[in-house]
Amino acid sequence: MHQKWWMESVGYQIYPKSFYDSNGDGIGDLKGIIEKLDYLKELGVNLIWICPFYDSPMDDNGYDVRNYFDVQEMFGSMEDVHELIKQAHEKGIKIVLDYVLNHTSDEHPWFIESRKSKDNPYRDYYIWHDGRTVDGHKIEPTNWGSFFGGSAWAYDEVTDSYYMKIFSNKMPDLNWKNEKVQDAMIEVAKTWLNWGVDGFRLDAVSHLDRAPFEDAKALPNEKYPLDWFKFSNLPKVHDYLKKLNQEVFSVHDCVAIGEVGGSASIESGLNYSAFDSNELSMVFSFDHNWCNNLSDIINPKKLKTNVKDLKTVFNAWQTAFKDRGWLPLNWLNHDQPRLISHYGDYKYPLQSGKMLATVLHMMRGTPFIYQGEEIGMTNYPFDDAAQFNDVSSIAAYQYYLEQEPDDPVKALKRAGLRSRDNARTAMQWSNKLFAGFSYQKPIPLLNPNYKKVNVQKQLKNQNSLWYHYQKLIQLRRFSIQHDVITLGDFELIETNDELYVYKRTFQDQTLLIINSFSRKKQSFDVSPYEIVETLITNYPKTNIKDQKILLKPYESIVFKVKEIL
Ligand code: NOJ
Repeated sequence: MHQKWWMESVGYQIYPKSFYDSNGDGIGDLKGIIEKLDYLKELGVNLIWICPFYDSPMDDNGYDVRNYFDVQEMFGSMEDVHELIKQAHEKGIKIVLDYVLNHTSDEHPWFIESRKSKDNPYRDYYIWHDGRTVDGHKIEPTNWGSFFGGSAWAYDEVTDSYYMKIFSNKMPDLNWKNEKVQDAMIEVAKTWLNWGVDGFRLDAVSHLDRAPFEDAKALPNEKYPLDWFKFSNLPKVHDYLKKLNQEVFSVHDCVAIGEVGGSASIESGLNYSAFDSNELSMVFSFDHNWCNNLSDIINPKKLKTNVKDLKTVFNAWQTAFKDRGWLPLNWLNHDQPRLISHYGDYKYPLQSGKMLATVLHMMRGTPFIYQGEEIGMTNYPFDDAAQFNDVSSIAAYQYYLEQEPDDPVKALKRAGLRSRDNARTAMQWSNKLFAGFSYQKPIPLLNPNYKKVNVQKQLKNQNSLWYHYQKLIQLRRFSIQHDVITLGDFELIETNDELYVYKRTFQDQTLLIINSFSRKKQSFDVSPYEIVETLITNYPKTNIKDQKILLKPYESIVFKVKEIL
């Protein structure tokens, strides 16, 4: 059997800016992470993925790297990183960093050189192209749109040409066709591995190759269509990843998790990360992240999970990867709405939060908890567009406003519901001033509900969401069900579309995982099973009548069972 250390891990994602501020400047920092390592150990995780803290002008909160080998001042110093790695390892916690390889900051020395002249030795580190002249006007080389709105090209007057940037103007895309770029980025990864990190989350990795520069199809009045296929999952990406694997990942036995975006099919997910792909260890995909009506509503109370779609997606990925590859399991990251506000129920935050946690942690793969998920943090109640900090939220707000200039409230609501700032609010440690995140006013937003939702409160209550997460992690990592939870085969059980029921089997062990996504009562027939033991639930008592489990709102139960043949 294919067995790697990361299959035994439970991960936790940290967004450093908003995790914990140790020095009172209102911004989370590396020393803050060090101070919270015992907290993480207590929760039970043994791997942390830390979002970028590299030197950066912070146009995209650190995904715009100015120097891969230094730390942005507000997060601390290189000494802090070395100390963090050391202390985490002493506590049995591995460290995964973001490896930002599609682009750099425009303030990176390579780009500063590259833009100087057409014959600069660094010119070819980035993707430059002359503009076109249409009706006497100079326009971009193609009409491609960028992820953050507007064109995927930015004009640079120094050489009167355009550079490609599929994110912000301050994030020029690297030209991976250039072997010097490949080698320079290999050096980045090697250096960090030598400094002791245990692997990487490869940011935007599916975008390293580009289609021929021809216009994308546009709707009437659409100036810059966002056509993912022009720069996603194209063939050369696999060549680059094979090279990285051969020269870096396989040499160090490190974990390499690719972010492959919403356009990666299961088949391409397997191409990247099947056990025999010789590319990545696993891929974060987003198919399960948008199984609701979020894009059609402005009132969060109208949000409805499409359980049918969610089950279809989970089933498809779990089934395709059976015996062939490994998956990360995550509900959200720093780019998505908070879980309770996305798939949970604001009327039943505790029950729905526990149910969602069970759904994820009982599947096959490596779970990743996003900071604050373990206490059920929720979206921020935006009431002013000035509260947006994220470059893409600001762009989205402006876009909605342009569409309906007379309705700024609507634009605010639409942008607010989807804003990446929701996940980036300050971690709610306690009910004290500034939620115990800092002793100064936090620079990240602070959700006013921190007096109700915080770590300190939940640690005092054995029935809290926090303890549910802790128990799930213990079951996975330390119980006698370890093998079946980690490695067992997954099988979806047919039910109505309010329930998500699945089975896990490993040798003679079988688990039945029953989850209701409904406010209404539901029932599930357990006559084909002999119930041996209840491993975890989210209500004090389980009702069974006439071989049917009668489920209360958002009830979730994991049974150890024997099948009655
Ligand atoms: C994906 C990251 O998760 C996101 O936060 C970032 O803006 C883009 N990649 C660009 O680096």
